[in-house]
Amino acid sequence: MQTVRTIADLRAQASAWRQGGGRVGLVPTMGGLHEGHLSLVRLAREHADHVIATLFVNPAQFAPNEDFDAYPRDEAADGDAFSNAGAELLFAPDIAEVYPPGHVTQVSVPGLSEVLDGAFRPHFFGGVATIAAKLLIQAMADVAVFGEKDYQQLQVIKRMARDLDIPTEILGAPTIREADGLAMSSRNRYLTEDERAAAPTIFAVLQEITDGVRGGVGANDLCAIGRARLLDVGFRDVDYVSVVDAETLQPATDASRPARALAAAWLGKARLIDNLPV
Ligand code: PAF
Repeated sequence: MQTVRTIADLRAQASAWRQGGGRVGLVPTMGGLHEGHLSLVRLAREHADHVIATLFVNPAQFAPNEDFDAYPRDEAADGDAFSNAGAELLFAPDIAEVYPPGHVTQVSVPGLSEVLDGAFRPHFFGGVATIAAKLLIQAMADVAVFGEKDYQQLQVIKRMARDLDIPTEILGAPTIREADGLAMSSRNRYLTEDERAAAPTIFAVLQEITDGVRGGVGANDLCAIGRARLLDVGFRDVDYVSVVDAETLQPATDASRPARALAAAWLGKARLIDNLPV
């Protein structure tokens, strides 16, 4: 697998593939790879002839008190894993290539970005929408794949691409879980042994909520019980446990529309998020 570090080199390879009649797939990541990321590459391979993986820890989506410095970085290991999963090109730019001096433009997706995670991490979706827009425009891929584990991020990126007329199909890939149900995440490595044992409770709580809602129990009551259960097993703070409309992310009031149960909670140094369709 070839590695390129400039937008010019990325564009040259992507357009050579397109001119040769190949479909191009894009898998944006920040590295710290696990099986979930590799499933994105494999899904992209099913929809494209050539897959570009990107590796860029995006400073714009971290607040000053967050884990930008601690975020796992191992380009050699991530490159091997991407290559084994079927990626042909790695785009690993440095910060100045992405945000050269004088870069001021921000992409924002109001509404979708302000609820759930957006209420607790107000900087986050502006940073994500901006880097995602840049990568989509830089690569001009036919298809780009993002994980459903970051469900709100996926909705924000879909809306941004639609509103900006970016002609890349945005695909969501199912969440990959450990055997005990914990959603795979680069941040799981921050968990101590005891915290790791408690961590799957976030998935169990979401399963109880989705089963309960399907059985006719009120979502608000189920979410309150779920929040208490997380605190009981050792989560130190629960940012939200909610059932929302799957597309607008506003409170689910219309039972005929698809809904999604989502939760975000802190276990030690790790902020875990997860979600399930209702
Ligand atoms: O999900 C991630 O890893 C990041 O938020 C993304 C989409 C690569 C943007 O930096």
